[in-house]
Amino acid sequence: MEAKNLWRFLVLSIGVVLVLLVTRLPNKEALDCNLYSGWCTSKNRFYSSAHPNNPIKKPSSFSTYHHNQHHDESEIPEHPLDPLTIQEFNKVRTILSNHPLFKSSSTYTLNSVVLEEPDKKLVLKWKKGDPPLPRKASVVAYVKGDSHVLTVDLETGQVASHKTTGSVSGYPTMTMEDMVGVLEVPLKSTEFNRSITKRGVNLADLACLPISSGWYGTPVEENRRLIKVQCYSKEGTVNFYMKPIEGVTALVDMDRKEVLAISDNGQNIPVANGINTDYRYSIQKLNGELRLLNPISLEQPKGPSFTIEGHLVKWANWEFHLRPDPRAGTIISQAKVRDPDTSKLRSVMYKGFTSELFVPYMDPTEGWYFKTYMDAGEYGFGLQAMPLDPLNDCPRNAYYMDGVFASSDGTPYLQPNMICIFESYAGDIAWRHAECPITDLKVTEVRPKVTLVVRMAAAVANYDYIVDWEFQTDGLIRAKVGLSGILMVKGTTNENMDQVPNQEYLYGTLLSENIIGVIHDHFITYYLDMDVDGSDNSFVKVNIKKQETSRGESPRKSYLKAVKKVAKTEKDAQIRLQLYEPSEFHVVNPLKKTRVGNPVGYKLVPGATAASLLDPEDPPQKRAAFTNNQLWVTPYNKSEQWAGGLFVYQSKGDDTLQVWSNRDRPIENKDIVLWYTIGFHHIPCQEDYPIMPTVSSSFDLKPANFFERNPILGVPPNFEDDLPVCKARDSA
Ligand SMILES: *[C@@H]1O[C@H](CO)[C@@H](O)[C@H](O)[C@H]1NC(C)=O
Ligand SMILES: *[C@@H]1O[C@H](CO)[C@@H](O)[C@H](O)[C@H]1NC(C)=O
Repeated sequence: MEAKNLWRFLVLSIGVVLVLLVTRLPNKEALDCNLYSGWCTSKNRFYSSAHPNNPIKKPSSFSTYHHNQHHDESEIPEHPLDPLTIQEFNKVRTILSNHPLFKSSSTYTLNSVVLEEPDKKLVLKWKKGDPPLPRKASVVAYVKGDSHVLTVDLETGQVASHKTTGSVSGYPTMTMEDMVGVLEVPLKSTEFNRSITKRGVNLADLACLPISSGWYGTPVEENRRLIKVQCYSKEGTVNFYMKPIEGVTALVDMDRKEVLAISDNGQNIPVANGINTDYRYSIQKLNGELRLLNPISLEQPKGPSFTIEGHLVKWANWEFHLRPDPRAGTIISQAKVRDPDTSKLRSVMYKGFTSELFVPYMDPTEGWYFKTYMDAGEYGFGLQAMPLDPLNDCPRNAYYMDGVFASSDGTPYLQPNMICIFESYAGDIAWRHAECPITDLKVTEVRPKVTLVVRMAAAVANYDYIVDWEFQTDGLIRAKVGLSGILMVKGTTNENMDQVPNQEYLYGTLLSENIIGVIHDHFITYYLDMDVDGSDNSFVKVNIKKQETSRGESPRKSYLKAVKKVAKTEKDAQIRLQLYEPSEFHVVNPLKKTRVGNPVGYKLVPGATAASLLDPEDPPQKRAAFTNNQLWVTPYNKSEQWAGGLFVYQSKGDDTLQVWSNRDRPIENKDIVLWYTIGFHHIPCQEDYPIMPTVSSSFDLKPANFFERNPILGVPPNFEDDLPVCKARDSA
C-alpha cells in the first residue's frame, strides 16, 4: 500500500470507529475511554511502503539482501532529490554494461551507485507540479586497480562523464562483497591456521573481522588495496568480540585475495573465557530477569502529526526531504520552517549529513596501531545501518523508511526499515512561566515539548552509532549521536590489576580477566549546507570578551561584551573551541533583517565534545585532518562533500577538508557550508563490558534573530480532554 493510501485508510478507519462509538455510546467519558482503549491495543504503527504489515525481514545472510520482491518496483521519483528507484538502478546497470570500460573487463566492482543530485540552483527553483528534473546517477567503479567516477544520464541512456582519479590517493568505499570476501583468505595459509590452533582455538569457532589498514607510507602499501584480518573465538558466546585471539594479524591483498604476511605475537596471551558475555535477553532470562520498570509507550489517540509523501516529511511547522544514502546514512535536504507571522516556509538548511567518522585507537603496538577507522568512507555508514527494531529502536508510533542500494554488480537490494521517523515526548517543557505570590498575579503558562526525530542506527562491526536528527517547533534542529555496541578489546595475560606494574602500558582499562578495553576516540563530522533565508550567507563569530571598566566608571571591575567578527575567508573560520575565550557561531543572511534591524540568523551551538590530540603529522591524523578543528566554513562546492575526500580507503590525506579550507577562499555573503565535529574520548570502564550503555552527545542549530519573536507563542497547552487516560487492565 502506498503511504498516501495508507494514511487515507487510517484516517477513514478512525472515522468509522468514531461513528460506531458515537452511535453506541452517547456518554462522552465512555467514548474517550473506548476510543483510547482501541488505540491502546490497535497497531498504530506505520511501516514503509514496502512492508505495510510485516516490516522486519531480518536478512539471515548477506545474499538474501538481493532481489527483495516486496519493494514497490513501479515507484517513480516525485522530487528531484529522491533516491534512485529499483527501476533506475536496473537502467544504470544496463547502460553501464554497454560501456567500453565494463564491456572489456570481466572483473569490476561498482562501489557506489547513487543519485547524482541536480544542480542546487535547479533544485531550489523546482516546485511540486513542475516537470521532473533530468535524472542522473553517480557511479564509482573500480576496474583493474583504477577508480573511476562516472555520471550516467538516465534520460539519454548515456554515460555523460567519465573520470579516473588521477593523482588523488585512496580507493573507493569497500563493497559488502569486499568485506565478506576477505574473511576466508587467511585460511588459505597453513601458517595462519597453525597460529590459531596453537592457541587452542578450533578453526570452526573462528569469527573474523575485515579491518581497514589505514596508510603509513610504507612500500608494501603502494598500488594495492590492503586489509587486515583479525579473528576471535565464538566458542560459547555470541559476543565473540570479548574473546580476541590476540596478536594474530593477517595482511591481505583485497583484490588478489592473497595473504601477504601473518604476524603472530603474544602467544602466551590466553583467549578469554567469555563467561557471562552473552547479552541476549533469552540468556539473561535463564539467569533471572531483571525487570526494573513497567512497560512504557507513547500513545497518540489521534494518530501522528506528521505526513510523509515519498521522501518529503511534513510535521508541525517543519518540512524537509529525507533520503537514505549508502555512505552518509541519512541525508536531510531542504529543511524549511514556517514563520508564524507570515505563514511562509523559510529555508534553514539545504543539506545536512554525517560526512565522515574517525575512530583512532590509542595503542601503538603491532596488532593495534593501524586501527584508525573512517567508517563512512571506508565501510559505508549507511551500508552498515541495520533494520531498526520496532518497539525498541524506535517507539510504537514510528514510521519506517527503507534504503535501496546497489550491490557490487549494480543489482539493487533493499535495506529494510533503515530509518525511522517519530514524534517524541520526553515529558520536557517547551516554555513556561508561573507568577510567584509576590506579584499577586495568578498566571501559570506551560507548553509541553514534542519533537520529531529521524533516526538511523549503524552497526559498524562491534560499534553501534545511533544517529538522530531532531526537529523542534521553536525552530531548533538537534543533531545527536549515541554510541553503544561492543568495545574492541585486547587480550592480556593479566587477570587482576595487582599483576600490572605499569598501568600506562595497558593502553586502556582491565575490564575482566584477560580483557583490556583500549582507549580510543570517536569523531563524527557533519556537513551542514546552511541556507538561512536564501543561499548567500555570512559566518559571524561572536566573541564573548571580558571588558574591564575604567577607574571610576562603575563599582564593577569587569563585565562581558559580545564582539562580532564576520569571517572574510576560510581561514577566519577554522575554529577550535575554547572555554576561556568563548564564542558563538552564527550564520546570518546579511541582506535580510528583522523588523528592528538584526540580520536573520541561526547559530551552531556545540555540546559536549572532544578534540583530537594526535600529532598533526601522525599518518592517521593527516588522513583525518578534518578533525584538526571543530568548526570550518567552506564556500559551497558540489564536489567537496566528504570531509576525508571522495576516496578515503588508504588515502594519504591529500583531499581533506583541511586541504580545501587552506585555499582560503572568500566566504562572506556567499553560499557557505559549515562543518562541525562531535568528538568523544573513550576510556573504557567496567560498565562498558560486555556491552556498552549508550553515551550521547549533540549540537544544535538554533534560530538567532530568525523569527520576530518566540515562534511557538500561539501553540496551545495540553487540556484534560486532549489526553484520555489509558487505564491498566482490571487484573493488573
Ligand atoms: C585452514 O583451516 C580451514 C578450516 O578448517 C580449512 O578449510 C583450510 O583448508 C585450512 N588451510 C590450509 C592451508 O590448510
Ligand atoms: C571545487 O572542489 C574541487 C575539489 O576540491 C576543486 O578541485 C575545485 O577547484 C573547487 N572549485 C572551486 C571553485 O573552489
